[in-house]
Amino acid sequence: GKTLPDDPQYDLHLYRGLWLLSGSVKMMPKVAKMRARPDDIVVASFPKSGTTWMQAIVQLIMYRTLGTITRVGLSENDWCFLDLAHNADPMPIDLLDEQMSPRLIKTHLPWDLLPKSIVEKKCKMIYVYRNPKDVMVSLYHFCKNVPEVIHSCPHETFEEFVQAFLKDRVIYAPYFENIASFWQHRGDANVLFVAYEDMSSKPQETISRVANFLGEPLDKETLDMIVRKTSFGEMKKSENVKRIIRRSSIAQSLAPRKPDGTNFHFLRCGKTEEWRKEFSPELAATADKWVTENLAAAQLAGFSF
Ligand code: A3P
Repeated sequence: GKTLPDDPQYDLHLYRGLWLLSGSVKMMPKVAKMRARPDDIVVASFPKSGTTWMQAIVQLIMYRTLGTITRVGLSENDWCFLDLAHNADPMPIDLLDEQMSPRLIKTHLPWDLLPKSIVEKKCKMIYVYRNPKDVMVSLYHFCKNVPEVIHSCPHETFEEFVQAFLKDRVIYAPYFENIASFWQHRGDANVLFVAYEDMSSKPQETISRVANFLGEPLDKETLDMIVRKTSFGEMKKSENVKRIIRRSSIAQSLAPRKPDGTNFHFLRCGKTEEWRKEFSPELAATADKWVTENLAAAQLAGFSF
C-alpha cells in the first residue's frame, strides 16, 4: 500500500515509476507542457547531490551575480524549479513564458519525465551526482527537518531511512534510475556530467568545465570570483540561499532534537565522505552491496562515482 501506518499524513506517491509528493504529482501535466527554448539551461540531479551549488555556479557564469536560488523569485536570473509545487500563485512555472533568456531551470525528474520540448530543443543539461551514501545522509537530515518534505519520510532512525532508500521508497527514488536515465545520453553534445566530489576537490577545473560547456569561457579573475562566491562558507552566508525553519508540528515531533532546536540550514555540512560519521560498518556494507549490484546494470556501463 501507499500509506505507512505511523504517519497519518504520509505523502509519497508513485507516478510513472517515480516517488513524488502529491503536490509534485499534481504539477506533472503542467510540467509536461512546458515550452522550452533552445537556450534554456537545465540543472538536473537526484536531490541532495549538489544541485544548489551547481545552480549558483551556473548563475554566476551566465549572469555574474547570485540571484535567488532556493526561494521563489521572478527576476531574470532566478531559477525555476520545475517539478516543485511552490506555495505561490502564480507559480514560477506559470511565469516561464515571460522570463528573459537564457532561462535557468532546475529539476529532479529523470530524463524520461522531462518536458518533451527540453529534449526536442536540445537544451544544455548539466547532470550533478554524488556519492550515494553522502546523498542518504544529506537527504535524511533534509527530510527530517524541512516541513515541505517531512511527510515523505515517516522513518525515525537513520538506519530505517537507509533501508527505505535501498528499497527505492524515498522522495524522487529510484536513485539509480535517475542517474541511468541521463547516463544513456552522456554522449549527447548538450549533456554534461559533473560529480559533487569534483566540485569539492577541484573547483577551478570543474567550474571551467561547466563554463566552457555553456559557451562562456572565463578569464582568471572571473573564475577566481566564482570559486570564492560558491565556496561553502560564502554561500552559507548568502541571503539568497535558504535557511529553513522547522515549523510544522509533525516536523517537531519527528525530527531528532537539535541543540539549537529550531534552525536547519540548507547548506548543512557540505563535505565529502561524511557518511563515515553516520553509517555503522554493517549498514555501510549493506549500502555498498546495493551500490555494486546497481552499478552492474547495463544502462550504467562505464559509470562510476
Ligand atoms: P549536506 O547536507 O551534505 O551538507 P542539493 O542542493 O542537491 O539539495 O544538495 C544539498 C547538499 O549540497 C547539501 O549537502 C549542501 O550542504 C551541499 N552544498 C550546497 N552548496 C554547497 C557548497 N557551496 N559547497 C559544498 N557543499 C554544498
